[in-house]
Amino acid sequence: MTAKNPVISSDKIPEALYPVIESLCSVSIDIAKIIARGPLGQSLGHEVGENSDGDGQKALDVLTDEMFAEGLRTQDVRWYASEEQEEVVELNPKGSLALAIDPLDGSSNIDVNVSIGTIFSIYDAKPEANESFLRIANEQLAGGYVIYGPQVGLVVTFGAGTLQYVLDPDAGEFILVNDALTIPDNSNEFAINASNYRHWRKPVRAFIDDCVAGTDGPREENFNMRWVGSLVAEAHRILTRGGIFLYPSDARPGYEDGRLRMTYECAPIAFLIEQAGGKATDGSDPIMKHSVSKLHARTPLIFGSADKVDRVATYHDLPEQEVSALFGKRGLFRT
Ligand code: F6P
Repeated sequence: MTAKNPVISSDKIPEALYPVIESLCSVSIDIAKIIARGPLGQSLGHEVGENSDGDGQKALDVLTDEMFAEGLRTQDVRWYASEEQEEVVELNPKGSLALAIDPLDGSSNIDVNVSIGTIFSIYDAKPEANESFLRIANEQLAGGYVIYGPQVGLVVTFGAGTLQYVLDPDAGEFILVNDALTIPDNSNEFAINASNYRHWRKPVRAFIDDCVAGTDGPREENFNMRWVGSLVAEAHRILTRGGIFLYPSDARPGYEDGRLRMTYECAPIAFLIEQAGGKATDGSDPIMKHSVSKLHARTPLIFGSADKVDRVATYHDLPEQEVSALFGKRGLFRT
């Protein structure tokens, strides 16, 4: 009997985490096949309800959550915290790990054939479910995502650099293509949902105004904007060619701490970005130093090339009257 090919080589993966990473990869290969069939398969993009936070849930959100929970049940994972579920689930009572997951990030892009992903984060398990996740982001053992795009890829860190794999669809194996992904710092692309401009606070407006002003403004250089609406796709672009992403807090009810979840999205993305030489903050402070107060807590997230993220922090550091003065001269989105 021939041995089954591994779905990923164990070379760069800590031994204790390898079986879990292998399971995540196996499930994501199955998910990629479902996504690739789109309307030829089951209906994936229709709303089936709301999660505990009132976010709309799509059929694929629920299906992928079930697939990961099932795939990890026999692994060394004791606690499973999913963005799609209100409470932490106990998978294997003897497991030594705690896994947080956003099974399907970027749901609004499911039925429009744009890249979506799975984001995950691994900690050592504590005896109690919630305390396994309510901790400082820099306690993560691993953080990563799978991107379902024109290529299926895995980007993961175990705290010793950021590794990039691409799925070979014929072999059914994730192949390492870069063992030290490094964010280039010469990109002038910013990513933000500009339709929220009127809700942003002054430091964020001033930063974006300066980008939009291009060579006529204080930055004296032109910028380009990209907004996919899938955090995984934005992170992948920035890891590949640099730039900056912002999902700040804003004045809309429910957006006091931005939109993105600390445990399921921000902590693992921040880990990947820092390990690739970039920075990730809430505007001022590093996400990796944040502790989480509740399972589904949100936080503003700004990440990308280090110099650009630092610049956003300087706008936040300015005294209110100085930002106001700057802002008075700018306001470029205003007519
Ligand atoms: O958290 C889900 C998510 O779809 C992210 O992937 C993405 O960055 C963000 O929400 C998009 O938010 P909005 O629809 O407000 O632009």
